[in-house]
Amino acid sequence: MKSFTLTVNRQSYTLKLDPDMPLLWVLRDVLGLTGTKYGCGKGYCGACTVLIEGEAAKSCSRPVEMVAGKRITTIEGLAESGLTALQQAWIEEDVAQCGYCQPGQIMTAAGLLNEKPIPTDQDIDEAMSGVLCRCGTYQRIRAAIHRAARLHQKGGLK
Ligand code: FES
Ligand code: FES
Repeated sequence: MKSFTLTVNRQSYTLKLDPDMPLLWVLRDVLGLTGTKYGCGKGYCGACTVLIEGEAAKSCSRPVEMVAGKRITTIEGLAESGLTALQQAWIEEDVAQCGYCQPGQIMTAAGLLNEKPIPTDQDIDEAMSGVLCRCGTYQRIRAAIHRAARLHQKGGLK
């Protein structure tokens, strides 16, 4: 066990943890942030995606010692107040079906929009290809990301 300081959703935590513990376990089992989902545990499905320093990353594949001191954002902390444009767009496009993959989808989309505020269809397909949806919501996800980009442009929700 070793002591680590993690910044999750703008809050700092100092925790004694096994250095090899995946960030996903820290989020769900230690901090109780169960919005980040466990799918495959092996980096294939994307259900566990969070932002690390604003970039989408699979939390099941990041040992805690790799992420200590970095800025981590989960679905619970994406919006500082109210909804982000992305979340608003997700609602307007009625994206979610069973919902299980959706936190990972939204966090991956947030990482994409941080990097490319006006993404093309190809940018979206490439970025989102790492997150599987067994319900097949891909068309609505694409529409919601375009809608979020337009909302940003119009100075709508952040
Ligand atoms: S649970 Fe992390 S990629 Fe599947
Ligand atoms: S909405 Fe059901 S798995 Fe994606």
